[in-house]
Amino acid sequence: MDLAGKKIVLGLTGGIACYKAAELTRALMKEGASVQVVMTQSAMQFITAVTMQALSGRTVYTDQWDGRVANNMAHIDLTRDADAIVIAPCSADFMSKLMHGGCDDLLSTLCLARPAHLPFLIAPAMNVEMWQNPATQRNALQLKADGIALLGPDAGEQACGEVGMGRMLEPEQLLHEIVAAFQPKSLAGKRVLVTAGPTFEPIDPVRGLTNRSSGKMGYAVARAAYEAGAEVTLVSGPTALAAPHGVHRINVQTAEQMHDVVMAHAEANDVFVAVAAVADWRVANVSEQKLKKSGDSPAPLLQFEQNPDILAAVAARTNPPYCVGFAAESENLLQYGEEKRKKKNIPLLVGNIGPDTFGKDENELVVFDANGHKRLTLASKMQLARQLVAEISSRLP
Ligand code: CTP
Repeated sequence: MDLAGKKIVLGLTGGIACYKAAELTRALMKEGASVQVVMTQSAMQFITAVTMQALSGRTVYTDQWDGRVANNMAHIDLTRDADAIVIAPCSADFMSKLMHGGCDDLLSTLCLARPAHLPFLIAPAMNVEMWQNPATQRNALQLKADGIALLGPDAGEQACGEVGMGRMLEPEQLLHEIVAAFQPKSLAGKRVLVTAGPTFEPIDPVRGLTNRSSGKMGYAVARAAYEAGAEVTLVSGPTALAAPHGVHRINVQTAEQMHDVVMAHAEANDVFVAVAAVADWRVANVSEQKLKKSGDSPAPLLQFEQNPDILAAVAARTNPPYCVGFAAESENLLQYGEEKRKKKNIPLLVGNIGPDTFGKDENELVVFDANGHKRLTLASKMQLARQLVAEISSRLP
């Protein structure tokens, strides 16, 4: 669980996105957090305190003068043992209030009274014109300058029927951002390029060759690097996975496309992590038309040519980024892993223990560098990705 033991104060302000706060509450609790909900009067026009209380399992606070708080100082009580304050949804009015330090209700008062070290995240949600209004933009800039993390907003269709910036991020994206707020920023200021997933090598317009890579490990590495503060580009073969929030994803199909995109981005990055299961060969005689079976004619014969080795090509550049490779071996991992690291001329290679990790959520790894190897024991791919990011960042110059 990514938020085990964390105490989150979740503030709701007036906006139709309040319904997403219900799902966010559940998502936070599923990750082990306890959630203390505080609502403004406007928020209660959109969702009831009863709903939020039932979901969070705690009394919801709405009133600055709530007599249930022994010392009658709810704004102090609620923030002193919190680990983070999240305002989702955060209305245009509440942003304006935060910017000016206004405090005329419980939620705004506890925001002003929060201890300076407390992570404070807001998820703006409003109509596109309200978001684009220079007043709101000025407020957003000032809030960022004050050290407040703005999560979103996103662009898309809005409840009012208009389209544009202002939608609140989805609960899962907010959850990822809240989890990220608790991770060490060991890659702050770094740029990280990651490949993930399988490649797809066409045979004809409807058929092709691929492999069983799900992309889960590569996507976890991209997310962990983003959590650690890096600017992340993810070059992905075809997968069913959503791009991790905050990560710039470029979709490709073939190994050659992956090679071209990676080479175009290699120079701008400090770290390259090659997690993709790249096809070693592509079909040389790709048919322009769909191959047809006709009578007794023989089965088509595929000819192959070798694909470029993307990782080796990046490692061979002058001034390469810090290169990390992955290896899947079915036997002799310790020997083959170290040999592969040397052959590809890379400082770090990660071996999958056990050949069949495809599609699974857990994994077990061995990390090889010039000094030997180290085991990362069985854990979720996300936990391993965070450990790997720590291994990488500790080795960067
Ligand atoms: N890789 C790559 N481009 C390729 C092939 C592999 O970038 N054309 C990268 C993978 O992303 C991975 C590492 O190289 O990081 C795996 O190396 P490779 O030697 O291909 O591993 P295996 O597929 O295990 O190779 P082999 O068949 O030689 O055991």
